[in-house]
Amino acid sequence: MTNKETDAVEVLIAQHREMEHLLALVRNAETGVAKKALFIKAADLLTVHIKSEEEVFYPAVHQARTEDDLLEALEEHLSLKRLLKDLLDIDPVEKAFEAKFKVLKEQAEHHHHEEEQHLFPAVRKLLDADQRASLGSDMLTAQADLAQRGAPRGTVKNETASAAPLE
Ligand SMILES: [Fe+2]
Ligand SMILES: [Fe+2]
Repeated sequence: MTNKETDAVEVLIAQHREMEHLLALVRNAETGVAKKALFIKAADLLTVHIKSEEEVFYPAVHQARTEDDLLEALEEHLSLKRLLKDLLDIDPVEKAFEAKFKVLKEQAEHHHHEEEQHLFPAVRKLLDADQRASLGSDMLTAQADLAQRGAPRGTVKNETASAAPLE
């Protein structure tokens, strides 16, 4: 792969767009079965994305100038995990699913915007293209590992007490 293809920032931005697309598909699904299948896919992808940021990306870009943005991002992750945990216990055909899902979708979009407007521009100044490419490779490896363990969405259930630590 070229440097650009594994640039950590480019990889994360592409995953944000993919997630937004998937969340729109969940919202518009016409049958309960389709909604459930799409939501489970979205929950797994969102979990893998968030956890790889917490375990690989955020520690790698943690500096004095990024710290405030990272701490805010971790709190937003916590909120997303709590919503995911709740939603995983509700059948998507139930009325209660809709309102909470809408909040998840809005919060995910807001979080993507924050990362892309504040954190990622700082990261582009902090790391050169080669460093971003090697970080992106590490992230993709971590994501593949998380996905391979099966049903990664299940792990958020144990991570709703407090935000992940910033290392
Ligand atoms: Fe994030
Ligand atoms: Fe992200």
